[in-house]
Amino acid sequence: MYDFAKLLHLIAGIVWMGGMTFMLFALRPAAIASIEAQPRAVLMGQVWRRFYAWVLVAIAVLFATGTHLYTSTFRAARMATGQGSVPLGWNVMLVLGLAMMLVFGHIYFAGFKKYKRAIAGADWALAAKAGALMHTMTLLNFALGWLAILAVRLVR
Ligand code: HEM
Repeated sequence: MYDFAKLLHLIAGIVWMGGMTFMLFALRPAAIASIEAQPRAVLMGQVWRRFYAWVLVAIAVLFATGTHLYTSTFRAARMATGQGSVPLGWNVMLVLGLAMMLVFGHIYFAGFKKYKRAIAGADWALAAKAGALMHTMTLLNFALGWLAILAVRLVR
């Protein structure tokens, strides 16, 4: 069970982190370099709608499996030694992972909602503003994700 949960955790992390890598460093710069502002805004809205559905699933899997990995190890340590403990890096992952989920909540429920409203009303200036904020928050999540992964692998 532990190994299976860890495999699912890893797959969900790869989907989210890989998707952000592609979006930030391939799709967005290519779209900016080659597509006019208005069709680009429409394209990005379509891309985000599809990608965010995957991120919502990835978040549910990361949270469910992450808390299972954490609590089952914590409980096993308490049974064995009378004291529950996990490596420091795991606590860092827990905190940064939750922070990433909150940041994504902001991207999805504040930024993306505003973005969709702007596109529907052909308010391209507002769409650009909302898109820029979503981009900044995605960069933040990308950095937090790598910090969490480094911590869980390197910090004992
Ligand atoms: C509530 C949030 C989270 C919790 C409680 C959590 C918990 C954990 C725990 C306990 C481990 C260590 C498992 C082990 O070494 O046996 C782990 C590993 C890992 N987690 Fe998380 N995690 C969370 C969020 C995330 C997020 C948001 C990502 C990436 C986007 C992520 C990616 C990974 C990766 C890549 C590993 C390394 C697996 C390995 O050692 O091979 N986790 N997580």
